Order: sequence, then C-alpha cells, then structure tokens
Amino acid sequence: MTVKFTLRATDPTKESADVLALFVWSLDGTKRKGKGSLDAVDKALGGQLSKLIKKDEFKGKRDQVVSLPTLGKLKADRVIIYGLGDPEKLTDGDLRTVGAKVGRAANADKAKRLVVALPDGLEARARFVVEGIELGAYRFSKYLTGDRKPKADLGHVTLAVEGKVSASMKASVELAQHVAAGVNIARDLSNEPPNVIYPDSLAEFAEKMAKGSGLAIKVFDYKEIVRRGMKLLQAVGQGSERKPCLVHMSWTPAKPKKRIVFVGKGVTFDSGGLSIKPGAGMGEMKHDMSGAANVVGLMHIIAALKPDVEVHGIFAAAENMPDGAAYRPGDIFSSLDGKSVEIVNTDAEGRLVLADAMAYARELEPDLFVDNATLTGACVVALGNTCSGWYAATEEAATAFQAAVKVSGENMWRMPLLEELRDQMKSEVADLKHTGDRWGGSISAALFLREFIGNAKNWIHCDIAGPAMADRSFAWNPKGGTGHGVLTFLELVLAAG
Ligand code: BES
Ligand code: MN
Ligand code: ZN
Repeated sequence: MTVKFTLRATDPTKESADVLALFVWSLDGTKRKGKGSLDAVDKALGGQLSKLIKKDEFKGKRDQVVSLPTLGKLKADRVIIYGLGDPEKLTDGDLRTVGAKVGRAANADKAKRLVVALPDGLEARARFVVEGIELGAYRFSKYLTGDRKPKADLGHVTLAVEGKVSASMKASVELAQHVAAGVNIARDLSNEPPNVIYPDSLAEFAEKMAKGSGLAIKVFDYKEIVRRGMKLLQAVGQGSERKPCLVHMSWTPAKPKKRIVFVGKGVTFDSGGLSIKPGAGMGEMKHDMSGAANVVGLMHIIAALKPDVEVHGIFAAAENMPDGAAYRPGDIFSSLDGKSVEIVNTDAEGRLVLADAMAYARELEPDLFVDNATLTGACVVALGNTCSGWYAATEEAATAFQAAVKVSGENMWRMPLLEELRDQMKSEVADLKHTGDRWGGSISAALFLREFIGNAKNWIHCDIAGPAMADRSFAWNPKGGTGHGVLTFLELVLAAG
C-alpha cells in the first residue's frame, strides 16, 4: 500500500473524496482555539451539525467522534468529525493515534480518497497525522482472495490546511511517510507466516532493503556462524532444516556524533524445541522475529533520513524446532564471548541467540546499545499485550530511553534489574544456567542478557513480547501492536543527532 499525500491550502468542503475527516479542538468556552472548517461543513449540511452540538452530543472532546453521510450535500460522501480536546494537552503521540483512527475509518468505509481538514495550530504537526493515517490504514491482507480481499485501498490523502503550505510542512509529510513505511515493513515481516519468513528469507529481505537504500550489509551464513564460534545461535538452529544466520546492516555518516547499535531477536518460528510448547497459540510464534523485523524497519527509516549518527542494525535469525539434531536440556555450549551455558529449557532460545548477537555487536563499542526481543511470556503477564517492558544498565541510558518513549508515545514501562535474582543463573556444571525459576521471568531473562554486554555500558533491553503478539484488534494502533518499538528507537537516534 502506498498512499499519496497532497498538502493544500483549500476549503475542505470543496474537495471531492470518499471521506472528509475534520479535526476540531474542544468547543468548550475558554480553551476554544477555533472551529476549523466546522462552520463551513455545518452550512453545507443545512445546520444539522450545530443542532448536534447544541444537543451536546459533540463538544470536540478528545476521542469524541461523529460520523455522518453527507447525502450529496458535500463533495465528500461522508464526513467524520474528530474531537481533539484541549490544545495544551494533545501530545504528538495522541495526534498520531487520532490519525490512526482516521486511517482505520477510511478502510472501514472502503475509501480510496480522503481529505483531512487540519485546524489552525496543527500545521506544524502534520507529521504525526500522516504517520497515524498510514499506520491506522495498515492491514495484512496479501493472502486473502475473492470476497475476503479488501474492496478498496486508501490511495490518496489531501491535507487541507487553513494557512499557507510551507516547505517545512512538505518536509515533515515526507519524513512521516518514511517513518510509517519503516513501521509497516516491520509489521509485514512480523505478520508473514513462518513458511515464508525463515532465517534465509529474512536475511534476503534485509539484503534487498539495504542494497536498495544505500546501507552497508553483511550476512553471516551458517558456515560463518560455525566458523566464528557462535555456538549458542548454532544450537538453537540445529534442530531445524532452515539454518540460522546473522545480519549486520549499518549507516555511517561522514561525521557521526554518536554510535548506536540495535540488536533484534529473529526466531522465525518458536516451537519451543524439545521443550515443546502446547499446541494452543503456537502459531502466534511466527511473530517471534519481531525484534529483528523492527531492526529492519528502523534501518529502512535511517537510510532515508541519513542522520548524523552512526547506526547499526543487527539480528540473529534461527528457527527453534525439535528434530533429531535438536539441542537438548542438559547440553552445555560455549558462547561467542567464551562463557559456558547450561541449557535448561530449549524454549528459552531467545536469550541464547541474543547472547551471541550481542557479544558480536558490542565489539562496535556503541555509545548506546539497544536490544529488542519477544523474549518472555512473563513480560506479557506483567504488562499485558499493549505495552512492552524495558531495562537499563545505566541511568544515563535510562534517561535517554525514557525521553525517547515520551516523544514516541509508545507504551513502554521501565522494569527493574533486581540483583537478588542473579543467583538463579548459577549452574553446577557451567558458568551460567540459562533460565531461572518461574517468578520474575522477564527480569531473570534481562539479567542473563546483561552478562553479554561486555564493556558496552549504556545498554537497554526491550521485551516487546506483548505488543508483537497483540490481539489483532489492537494491531492498527501506533502505541502497540506489531512494529511497536520502531518509533521509540527512531527518536533515540534523532535525539543523538
Ligand atoms: N518467544 C517466547 C516468549 C513469548 C511467549 C512471547 C509468549 C510472547 C508470548 C520465548 O522464546 C519463550 O518461550 N520464553 C519462555 C521462557 C521460559 C522457558 C523460561 C517463556 O516465556 O515461557
Ligand atoms: Mn521460546
Ligand atoms: Zn521465543
């Protein structure tokens, strides 16, 4: 889906479209900042809108929506009015969410053309409206045929503004389209079935993306993984016909201000291995490469934005399967950094592939080191499926990450690295046991990963398990769902540049 956006200083009632979306600030007395095109639409509808407003059904409060067919009285077939509430309170993230509701409504209406009337004061924030529309209109429908196929795709959006269209507005719309495209790449990869996306095909996708956008890329195939001694990654992949691989993409500007390294978990299907998962819900484990998908989507945006920051995107890909060559509970392997690890449960494979990927990535000596992974069910139990949990090794890293979360508007909650849980990692026969007991499962997984950061002090671990496997009904939402994390990671890069 590619949506074409046009910015125009125009009277939105004069634009023909399937849907006209009208944004309106709160109509409550003092805070009132202007009704936008409300009066013009009201007039065209013969005063019906002001009747509704008088009856108090619509006051422009945030999340208030009125949807009306125009029955030929306007050039658009339907008008949907979105309350934005108090101008002082509406964050960029909130605005993106309103935009997403518009995109979703356009799909529900089978709209091809959409006109969005932005009220005074929002022009400078067009970026978030555009991102919202593209993220909200997202759906994964490529495998649907016949009647199941969507009847129409949103193809053209006109942003009708009250003042003049400026160059900076145009630039911000363009930026938004790159951002949304990146998030939607991450979503597509995550949603693809595991017979289509497996380690080699994921690497191939990354390779095409990188080469098409001027990023450097290295792909380590199975032979190279064995040669380098990435035995944990090798172990996780050895029970599958599809062999593991590791991908390293990078963007290096002329004078980088900082170096940020992102690492993603790319388990293209997690059956649990010999510690096999129950059948119910196993199909959801196709999303277990969402961390890697986020890295690919993020690098796509970085390639377009070309920030003054050196950015590396690395992921380890493997399929966790239980054949005769599969790794077993009780096995001991040495990791890339030399530590030996006793396998307890083959379903805790994520931290193994990440350990080797992180031991590789830390050699880049990052200023900021971020991994993201669908790592634990425990994190989903703790925070639900609209929010991810993050951990920071230093307060410096935490401050930077918290600031990025605030700007992105994504639901991410900081979790504690409780040192008292470290004892759970003690093994009788190896340096480390790879899982702890049942309680505090998200924390003990994070503590295990921390063993592999080496001298890379400013480390952030982000467990995205909840949003990545989110309820389908939430998938459109830019605050959570597949692709969750990309917006925050991008803000982290932009803040460093
Ligand atoms: N990919 C899963 C984590 C997961 C589970 C994500 C449910 C989303 C929903 C991970 O590889 C896993 O299986 N973790 C185990 C760890 C346990 C064996 C220590 C888990 O969370 O149960
Ligand atoms: Mn698992
Ligand atoms: Zn997993």
